[in-house]
Amino acid sequence: PGLDVLAKRAGLLYFGTAIDNVVLNNSQYISIAHNKSEFGQVTPSNGQKWMYIEPQQGKFNYSMGDAITKPGREAGQMGRCHTFIWHNQLPEWLTAKNWTKPELVKVLENHIRHEARHYYDSCYAWDVVNEAFNDDGTLRETMWLNTIGKSYIELAFKFARKYTSPRTRLYYNDYGIERVNNKSIAVAEMVKYFLKRGVPIDGVGLQAHFTTGRSPSYNETSASIAQYNKLGVEVALTELDVRQALPDSHEQQQAQAKIYADSVKACVDAKDCVGVTVWDFWDPVSWVPETFPGYGDACLWSANFTKKPAYYAISDMLREY
Ligand code: G3I
Repeated sequence: PGLDVLAKRAGLLYFGTAIDNVVLNNSQYISIAHNKSEFGQVTPSNGQKWMYIEPQQGKFNYSMGDAITKPGREAGQMGRCHTFIWHNQLPEWLTAKNWTKPELVKVLENHIRHEARHYYDSCYAWDVVNEAFNDDGTLRETMWLNTIGKSYIELAFKFARKYTSPRTRLYYNDYGIERVNNKSIAVAEMVKYFLKRGVPIDGVGLQAHFTTGRSPSYNETSASIAQYNKLGVEVALTELDVRQALPDSHEQQQAQAKIYADSVKACVDAKDCVGVTVWDFWDPVSWVPETFPGYGDACLWSANFTKKPAYYAISDMLREY
């Protein structure tokens, strides 16, 4: 049995992967990506981001997102949708202009309205807002914050609730919140504040981009998940990967395997952690080497499509449930 089959037996809703458009012509890759036994859920790594979806104002193009979500649906895989509001990968027409607040709120609502309707039945969850906080718990300076003010986050959630299917779970998604720290506490405070005032939010996505040698322990991740579950929202590990300093070694692969297995286990053992998504499963398409030169080999399958120790560590761990 593959990872999704084992994860479901252990009580998760899914074990999934991100898929990038650059690799859609690789048939060996695709046969694993849409193998429902391994992955019960898929997320487009890029295809649903603003610059690709609305490359010109009011002109929507869903081809890149659809290229991932359609085969996923045909294979019977769930979808996580990523992401409405981020400060990255925005189109030029949006970033180049000096918007007034009412103008930008309109642009935001219009974008969410169109994209939410297009993917109405394709998303178990939407990452409504992505990476809005700094590590110290303050809000990140972005065009959204600068022009609309901090209410842009709750506006985005309200628009998302208005236009997505009522079955779609609305998530706040971020990295560096897999431990109890200033950032993860600030996110918990936001969730609390939203729930108190009736702003719709259903979940928190812990991205879980880890590095061998300095990743959170099982207990640390468990404690962070618990701080959100305690408030009554669900959690998912949304972008799990574990990068290595290159060149990779046998020892590093073993260490990586333990981090992968411990992270998935923290989700399985939590009160309400619904699933785990790896941020791609194949080393050659990982985002890591481009962003962190000297690091790589972060995924479960190596370049020649062999499964790495990390794959077997997750699989063995899940079999114990
Ligand atoms: O669009 C161009 C394309 O025209 C060109 O042919 C190609 C050549 O390399 O590059 C394409 O753009 C790349 C884009 O991904 C689409 O493949 C960018 O250079 C590249 O920087 C971009 O990287 C993505 C990154 O987000 C952008 O910040 C990664 O693939 C994607 O995995 C990564 O995902 C983010 C999550 O959304 C949020 N959390 C962190 C995570 C990792 O950074």
